[in-house]
This record gives sequence, C-alpha cells and structure tokens, in this order.
Amino acid sequence: MIVLKLGGSVITDKDTPETVDDAALAATADVIADVTTARPLVIVHGGGSFGHVHAAEHGVSTTTGTRDYAGAYAIHDAMKRLNAAVLAALHERSIPALPVHPLSIASRDTEGALSFPVGAVRRLIDTGFVPVVHGDVIAHEGAGVTVLSGDEIVTHLGAALSADRVGICSTVPGVFDEDGEVISTISSFGAVESALGASESTDVSGGMAGKVRALLELETPASIFGPHALSAFLAGESPGTLVDRST
Ligand code: IPE
Repeated sequence: MIVLKLGGSVITDKDTPETVDDAALAATADVIADVTTARPLVIVHGGGSFGHVHAAEHGVSTTTGTRDYAGAYAIHDAMKRLNAAVLAALHERSIPALPVHPLSIASRDTEGALSFPVGAVRRLIDTGFVPVVHGDVIAHEGAGVTVLSGDEIVTHLGAALSADRVGICSTVPGVFDEDGEVISTISSFGAVESALGASESTDVSGGMAGKVRALLELETPASIFGPHALSAFLAGESPGTLVDRST
C-alpha cells in the first residue's frame, strides 16, 4: 500500500487565496491514473491557499485552537472545497476516489496526541476505493479545534495502515542542503536542522522542517520529491530525499 501526500502548494496557487492550480492538478491526476500498479493507494492532500489562509486569519495552528464555530467551519469548509476539486480531477480519470474528512473522526487529547481511527479508511481500500483524506481542523481537548496537517495524517496513516511506501509530493525536488543540493537520505533531524528554512508562504504547520520531523517518526521509509518525480515514485523508485530513520 502507498500513502501519497499531495502538498497544498503543488495543487493550489499558494499565494492567491482559494485558487486551485488546475494545470498542476490535472497533470498530477494524469500520473496517478497512468501508474495503475501503484495500488492500493491512499491520497492525502494539504491546505495550500485554501486551509492555510483561513487558519492564519482565525489564528488557528496545530497547537493554538479556536472555539469559534465560524472560524473552525471556515477552515474546514475551504478544505472540503479543495477536496472536491481533487476528487473531481480523479473522477474525470475514472480513479475510484472517495473523500475522508478528519473533522468527523479524528481528535487530539490535552497533550496533543492524535486519535484517528482508520477502520473506515482500511475498509474503503479493501473495497477497491482510493480514499482522499485532507488536512483539516479537529477537536482538541481543552483547546477547541486545532489544525491537523496533511503531514501528520501521512505519518499516522503510514503507521496505522502499515504502508509499504510513503511519498510526499512537494513543489521542490527534495530537501536541500546549505549548498542548494538535494539531500539524498536523512536519518536524523539534528543532521539537517541548520539546512531547513521556514516556508515562505503562510504555513501554519511547519514547512519542510515539519515534514521531515513528521516523517522521521515513521518506521516506513518516506520520499520527498517534486511533481516531476511523481511517476517515478509511484512506479517504485525513490526520487528526491529519502527520510529513513533506520539508515
Ligand atoms: C494544512 O495541511 C491543513 C490546514 C491548514 C487546514 P498541510 O500543512 O499538510 O498543508 P500544505 O501541504 O503545507 O499546504
């Protein structure tokens, strides 16, 4: 099983609120439709110019919550609109995609520990569907709702579903070192900490550093790569940066 995250900035214009990058989404969906050997498949997508803009506007992050229903719903509803656009692109190519909305099933306790039952996702996969899960807001004990990022979903599903491979398709070809070269393998955060800068656009969940941290929690090796390498990843290669704590 493959768990694939489509970064929000891959499928949206991250600097223009609520704008799908139609050409990029179509190209992504074409590749997913072409590499039919990459099944079973779970797709997770981030927020891009849908979730992050509203989260920033309402002061909500993965740790700072809101109890304001209107703010919470604005973030969730924007993510559902992006999710609908992703589903439409997949359906146009006859990919049997169905949505999974974390707000309805996931939550955090006071420590921030995530509970995300995967029974429904697993059964959808077993039934031949391609679940499409999105970053969302979820109930957070004592804090209202907080953001659940796509990266955290990928980490959680990768472990809970015992995925064979995890991929994060980002706008960059991998994680860069200080000289601007793609680092081929990362096995610990400390080794790359100084090379990891913050994301330039509004990103409530930590940019590349957050991605690497999340993937290092995973037993399954995970690849971070750019859109041009998606077909290679789905075909079984390890393009970009391999994040593997066991190396
Ligand atoms: C953010 O998910 C989701 C919300 C803001 C609700 P991600 O943090 O995974 O999104 P991208 O991929 O960086 O845009």
